[in-house]
Amino acid sequence: MMRTVYVNGDYVPENEAVISIFDRGFLMADGVYEVTSVLGGKLIDFEGHAARLERSLSELDMPHPCTKDEMLEIHRELVRLNGIEEGLVYLQVTRGSDGDRDFVFPDRETTKPTIVLFTQSKPGLADNPAAKRGTKVISIDDIRWGRRDIKTVQLLYPSMGKMMAKAAGADDAWMIEDGAVTEGTSNNAYIVKDGKIVTRGLSSDILHGITRAAVLRFAREAQMEVEERAFTIEEAKAAEEAFSTSASAFVMPVVEIDGVPLGDGTPGPVARRLREIYLDESLKTAI
Ligand code: PDD
Repeated sequence: MMRTVYVNGDYVPENEAVISIFDRGFLMADGVYEVTSVLGGKLIDFEGHAARLERSLSELDMPHPCTKDEMLEIHRELVRLNGIEEGLVYLQVTRGSDGDRDFVFPDRETTKPTIVLFTQSKPGLADNPAAKRGTKVISIDDIRWGRRDIKTVQLLYPSMGKMMAKAAGADDAWMIEDGAVTEGTSNNAYIVKDGKIVTRGLSSDILHGITRAAVLRFAREAQMEVEERAFTIEEAKAAEEAFSTSASAFVMPVVEIDGVPLGDGTPGPVARRLREIYLDESLKTAI
């Protein structure tokens, strides 16, 4: 089915959407993005994604293309126009173009940022069989740049990581820096040790996941213990459980790391419970 997408103020059929070849998103990966999930036709954690977009833009000195209310309106209109019940809304903002290629940023007074949004319909997103089966991860070196807290479109290495995982018969890769796990290719990483949920603390080493923030809040509210600290891949392989979180996969159990099964090799109770709580609670505040 032909989607309706949003480009710089217009709702257009996907095959009519046009961006300049000089756009800095295309030439320099000079852009940021957000992915917001849709359940029951409503947006999950929209406020968090809007706040992080704001931060990504200001960290890169990029102008905001529209207000938060306008952004919400565009998200909702695309969900409506494309009949999305379960799926994702992808938003990307780039620094735009002044009509040529140059390392120097174009004048922000005269160059408008580019804004693009599109939907992805994913029926069964909440009832994903992978969450029942659990996923397998491999570990790879983290060779990304040092500002992973900014959600930029520089996703070549994470894509390569997914391909490395695929080639190894796994689902995803967890990245390692100085012996400790940073995060998954497109998600935050967790282990459960002595009943405690362990995940790396926030810094420029990782993306500050919106799902992470919600899941940790729900875990604490449910009296589960949370420890925010770095952990090694060896610690992860010896953990009772592991899981990852993201807007597109919610809470996803991990049952194998580098070929080593965790526990009995099936999704653990903490990950299963957190997935349930996250889906229940975030649906209540979906807009
Ligand atoms: N990825 N870490 C990385 C490197 C990510 O790319 C993502 C999200 C996350 C989780 O963040 P959040 O909970 O806000 O989705 C952590 C999105 C889903 C993507 O690139 O498709």
